[in-house]
Amino acid sequence: MKTLSIDQQYVEKFIQQSQLDALQPALQKAQQDLINKTGKGNDFLGWVTLPNEIDETFLADVEATAKRLREKAKVFVVIGIGGSYLGARAVIEALQNQFAALDTQRKDPFVIYAGHQLSEDYMHELLAILDKTDYALTVISKSGTTTEPAVAFRILKNHLEKKYGKEEAKSRIVAITDKERGALKTLATKEGYKTYIVPDDVGGRYSVLTPVGLLPIAVAGFDIRALVKGAQEMKVLVTTKNTLPENPAMHYAALRNVLYQKGKKVEIMVNYDPRLYYLTEWWKQLYGESEGKENKGIFPAGVNNTSDLHSMGQYIQEGERMLFETVLSIENNRETIEIPNDLENLDGMNFVAGKRLGYVNAMAQLGTIMAHIDGGVPNIKISIPEISAYTIGQLIYFYEFACGLSGYVLDVNPFDQPGVEGYKRNMFHLLGK
Ligand code: PA5
Repeated sequence: MKTLSIDQQYVEKFIQQSQLDALQPALQKAQQDLINKTGKGNDFLGWVTLPNEIDETFLADVEATAKRLREKAKVFVVIGIGGSYLGARAVIEALQNQFAALDTQRKDPFVIYAGHQLSEDYMHELLAILDKTDYALTVISKSGTTTEPAVAFRILKNHLEKKYGKEEAKSRIVAITDKERGALKTLATKEGYKTYIVPDDVGGRYSVLTPVGLLPIAVAGFDIRALVKGAQEMKVLVTTKNTLPENPAMHYAALRNVLYQKGKKVEIMVNYDPRLYYLTEWWKQLYGESEGKENKGIFPAGVNNTSDLHSMGQYIQEGERMLFETVLSIENNRETIEIPNDLENLDGMNFVAGKRLGYVNAMAQLGTIMAHIDGGVPNIKISIPEISAYTIGQLIYFYEFACGLSGYVLDVNPFDQPGVEGYKRNMFHLLGK
């Protein structure tokens, strides 16, 4: 398999190999705890075996629903928050043409998002555009009670029913929720919506390979089978190999945990391609919600280069030295652009004439890694051969498994999120619930 690889050469100045080796037994135990369901939060480990449980009947059903919605809608609204939306968005935005919204000839529905915040102006602008567009929607909430998506769904259901009438509106709604609990389940059953189930033992942020991610990705027109295949193959690798260099999830977990032990409290995920913006957002949620508890955990941040070299780059180079970076590097671009020669050379840029833009970007990446190492910022490098449904499927499972390992090494439960209740209690009190 064309697989991802981890390069530790840009960390070696900051740690000793013996420190990595010392973590190997704890990581081997964590690996077994994930596989045998013997660690903390073991009732939420359904994601570990999920890639192998996705069968033909299920995939065909998701594809059939997607096809039906694609025929009806030019726009598909995904209503959800946190793990109930970020995975789908990460995959769709990595794979889709970045200017698809402006392409009036496009064949695939354009996926947009709601219920991931409470902005009144956002909702107003969304409704205004939906007035003029054929659309369908999915409402995704595992608990079925989360305020943001519930409010958005109430507003959009009302809009959809006024626009198309109640019967047609029903055929444009898919609910994705728990098999029996929650207000959304009750509502979906009463209205007779097409419904998919979020498995009990899969938490929101680990749910991309359930209908939560797969349905929106299929509606957007991407190959969910290739995505699943990538995850399946990565699962084999990270659940069978049990030494650091062979197992990329153990290797990544070891590097970041040794750096954390040495006082590097912030991990910045770095990309050099705007298509990866939401993958970083998904990764931030996965790691932040999984590890940040009991006053412990690496703070996950993200930068998008080279844009952020002109803003955050200053802090990374010379600010407080509690940072390390993980660069997600793409080896091959889909397309080729050669920078033209200019006889007058008034802009002084002929030194890059004849070179590919991708080569210039790669040199920016290498130059930045070198500069940041000199500035005291270790860099882990994760490389994938290209951006495709298959490699993104690999990445998703890789990050999930490494997150489970890291959480266990940190001795926290990586599968709960008790801290997110605090703001809800206050908001409900203020709203008189
Ligand atoms: O990862 C998680 O569990 C959370 O981010 C949830 O996905 C998020 O809070 C949304 O929850 P729900 O799907 O119940 O609406």
